[in-house]
Amino acid sequence: MIYKLKNGMELLIRQTEIQDANKLIEFFNIVDRETKFLAREPSEFDKTQSEEEEIIEKNLKNKNEIHLLGFIGDELVGQCSANRVKDRLRFRHRANFAIMIKQAFTGLGIGGKLMREIISWCEENDIEQIELDVVSTNTRAINFYKSFGFTIVGEIPNALKYLDGTYADELIMICQIKNNK
Ligand SMILES: CC(C)(COP(=O)(O)OP(=O)(O)OC[C@H]1O[C@@H](n2cnc3c(N)ncnc32)[C@H](O)[C@@H]1OP(=O)(O)O)[C@@H](O)C(=O)NCCC(=O)NCCS
Repeated sequence: MIYKLKNGMELLIRQTEIQDANKLIEFFNIVDRETKFLAREPSEFDKTQSEEEEIIEKNLKNKNEIHLLGFIGDELVGQCSANRVKDRLRFRHRANFAIMIKQAFTGLGIGGKLMREIISWCEENDIEQIELDVVSTNTRAINFYKSFGFTIVGEIPNALKYLDGTYADELIMICQIKNNK
């Protein structure tokens, strides 16, 4: 799907394809260094192109997950994903969610467009509840999630430990999709 952004640029959102492996590696290496709010240290992302291609191929075959990319021209500017928490009848109504936008492209509405597409996929796949963890000081993301109806339902103290020995708490946020229509 193609969208017009606030600044007039066009954003293309589509599913991740195998040929995106290299761009995705480059993207993760940039975004991991731009923020301390993500789930790994920059040095921990070490996938080769063929490993990344295998991951994408496996993801594409898995009906319980979706991976979307946002492009402006040829540049990969955002990525998000959702996956069922478990493929068991009692858990099939729940999905985990993750999103990252390149710093220079935040605040343009890209995250919102990606989130809307994820919500549509969840609706089409009988997912009723989207769940995520967010670092408690990541105010921008928390406000972003709240604007989609996510509420804070819990907190994990010292959820992340950084290399310098400091910690960060995480909030657990949930969105009931039925309330989002
Ligand atoms: C958090 C993040 C995904 C938001 O994406 P984005 O593209 O910047 O957000 P959008 O421009 O689509 O904003 C959508 C809505 O969220 C809300 N929002 C976004 N930033 C906000 C802020 N700083 N304060 C208040 N509300 C905000 C607004 O309601 C906004 O609606 P509007 O466009 O009508 O003003 C993005 O900033 C990001 O990837 N950050 C770095 C990585 C990260 O922290 N990922 C989340 C880890 S849990």
